Amino acid sequence: MQHILENHPYIQQIIALEKQYEDRTELHKKVGGLLQKMGADDAFIKLVIKRNFEDDGFLKQEWSEYNIPYFFIYETADINVKIHFFPAMEHYVKGTAAHCIHHHNNYILTTAAIFGSGYETMLFDKHVEMNSATLECKLKITKHFTQEAYPVHTIDAWEPHIVYNPEIYSATLQLWTPDQKRNTDGLRTNPLLKALKVPLRKMLYLFGIEKKFGIAPKHTYQWYPEGDHFKAIEENEYFEPTRKSIGEKVNNFSIQTVCIFMQRRGVVDKAFIESILSKKTLPAYYHKWLNMLLNDETIPDSFCKSEINIPQRKYNMQDVINAASAQSI
Ligand SMILES: [Fe+2]
Repeated sequence: MQHILENHPYIQQIIALEKQYEDRTELHKKVGGLLQKMGADDAFIKLVIKRNFEDDGFLKQEWSEYNIPYFFIYETADINVKIHFFPAMEHYVKGTAAHCIHHHNNYILTTAAIFGSGYETMLFDKHVEMNSATLECKLKITKHFTQEAYPVHTIDAWEPHIVYNPEIYSATLQLWTPDQKRNTDGLRTNPLLKALKVPLRKMLYLFGIEKKFGIAPKHTYQWYPEGDHFKAIEENEYFEPTRKSIGEKVNNFSIQTVCIFMQRRGVVDKAFIESILSKKTLPAYYHKWLNMLLNDETIPDSFCKSEINIPQRKYNMQDVINAASAQSI
């Protein structure tokens, strides 16, 4: 389903940059302006909408609360370009954490704010001190900024970060890449490893080289503030309720959120929407929102989650600042 965008000059430029800069840090330094340009170009955004709504893989996916509502743009083994949508809070309180502090394993991410107020964010030192008995941790804030001040920013591989919910509905356009051009296929087919009949992943743990090969360590933690320290929570445990949260309500929420962007950004192609509505394969929950686009009815705000899966259900920027100012754990 890539063909609509594959030959687009923007995508060709990204592919050219990807080839030119094997050093992924350099690639991410160079790509920001292009991501902003793509996000500002209505004609391109209309193609992105087509690319997704004509793709049965996109249409028929099962949304869960784990996914941020999104559009695909372009994907290869080396790069992934997407748009993410961030709904507002039902009752906005500045500095409310959108989720736990987390990292993206070996992926580097460059984000361009392309719509709405944007969010406030913090990055943390990659070295997290942890008491493995109590899971109490120490994290150090290294950067704190808004997308309004810095519309393009990069989050390094393994770099903990947090987003505070935006004031109004916002969207970002992002490039994701592994931190190195890498190839574990050779290892997977290595006759010695094969002969040992030990799964590759386990073998990498035994060697202690999982980070080198860009495979997430066995325990991936996320963090939240707890008084004068941070507390680690295993990623799988943290995500379990949102991964399980699927069904009509989440499907509706996701497509409402996507359609809000199209309406507010003014990129509704009515003839195209009509053609999509006539598709027999279109899931039923699309109809309401696409008809509202067609009839110029204002789609009301969708709202982000008001609680996250930590004992106190929510926390804010001041809680993070307090926990980060503690001297030790
Ligand atoms: Fe993130």
